Amino acid sequence: MNLDFTYHNPTIIHFGKDALNNLKAELANYGDTIMLAYGKGSIKKIGLYDQVVSILKECGKNIVEVTGIMANPTYEKVKEGAKIVRDNNVDLILAVGGGSVIDCAKGISVAAYCEEDAWTKYWLQFKPVDNKIVPVASILTLAGTGSEMNGGSVITNDDMKLKMGRVFPPNVYPTFSILNPEYTYSLPKYQMVSGIFDMMSHLMEAYFSGEDDVTSDYVVEGVLRSIIHSAKIAIENPEDYESRSNLMWSATLAMNPLMGLSKPQDWQVHMIEHQIGAYTDCAHGMGLAAVSLPYYRFIYKNGLDKFVRFATQVWGVDTEGKTKEEIALAGIDALEAFVKECGIVINLKELGATEEMLPAIAESTVILGAYKKLTSDDILEILKAAF
Ligand code: NZQ
Ligand code: ZN
Repeated sequence: MNLDFTYHNPTIIHFGKDALNNLKAELANYGDTIMLAYGKGSIKKIGLYDQVVSILKECGKNIVEVTGIMANPTYEKVKEGAKIVRDNNVDLILAVGGGSVIDCAKGISVAAYCEEDAWTKYWLQFKPVDNKIVPVASILTLAGTGSEMNGGSVITNDDMKLKMGRVFPPNVYPTFSILNPEYTYSLPKYQMVSGIFDMMSHLMEAYFSGEDDVTSDYVVEGVLRSIIHSAKIAIENPEDYESRSNLMWSATLAMNPLMGLSKPQDWQVHMIEHQIGAYTDCAHGMGLAAVSLPYYRFIYKNGLDKFVRFATQVWGVDTEGKTKEEIALAGIDALEAFVKECGIVINLKELGATEEMLPAIAESTVILGAYKKLTSDDILEILKAAF
């Protein structure tokens, strides 16, 4: 039976080539001190930093910064930003970058005025947010995570070797996000295709679960087809606005969590990847792709009808003369062929894992899963297949 749900998404999206023109009006809603949060310099190379600073100055804002936010942001970085917020009485955290920057900004938002250790309270114990938070807004430069319109904040604790995802409530979502597909033109292909697999994985995590007839599954199939179509065009021509635009909006839709409403969801692939990331610091989407193929081959018999549907509705697999199992496997083969065509790295060795790491990754992975509940031994088998 379809599950009950409550859906509330407060993020205002300004989308398109001229989306930045909305920044000035948005800033009028906040106090004088803005903290710019950004990564290791890509926003300076594409000229976005200068544009944003000039708008902030035009609006008479004081600017403070937290910079050098790394891919797979750490709790140390969250604490650094939280101190800057407190010291300067920041009114808005404006995150300019990819998912890591936006996730870190949300972490800083909840940690700044948290009187306990925020890591323990929010990422380990999943306690409700009951302290003052600082509003977050974003200007997105990488399509993939969906962080621009959700409450997700994935933070790595290097000391504990744990990468934990927390979905914060709507008051921590970006209040507004500016999405200009042109900002993604400068992405190295490696990051671009990593983001493409990430958005696909968000959809598949919602899709591979449940037996009911649910609208969300039909929407997922459509968005997946759009991503597959646009990815091929954008890889060929990175400055093709139409495909970049489709990919950017697909990514936002994919992890919203609109796509999983009214049904159970899987998320086991993400749980395994998070621990691979904690050990290797690999690009998130690459780690997901490496795990997805052996994982889906491991569980497909437990959700056979859905895997058959995936093969036919997403990949157009020819069913003539094939058993259900053959059709399901042909769908996973089609996913693998697409992954390889995109140049996505699916070998854990290439992503920085060593054989010695695999048991520790398996042991520390959170077990979720829908069609089949894995054991740590199952996860180890999947990791070995990806190695
Ligand atoms: O640091 P800079 O210089 O900005 O460079 C970044 C970084 O090296 C670069 N980049 C970003 N935009 C660029 C660009 N380079 C050139 N031109 C541009 N326009 O790309 C590199 C990767 O950036 P990052 O933000 O790490 O990538 P992504 O957006 O894939 O974010 C990954 C993080 O998000 C988490 C992941 O686990 C990972 O930590 N996730 C967040 C989710 C959420 N909030 O809901 C859900 C996801 O499942 C995911 O777990
Ligand atoms: Zn993801």
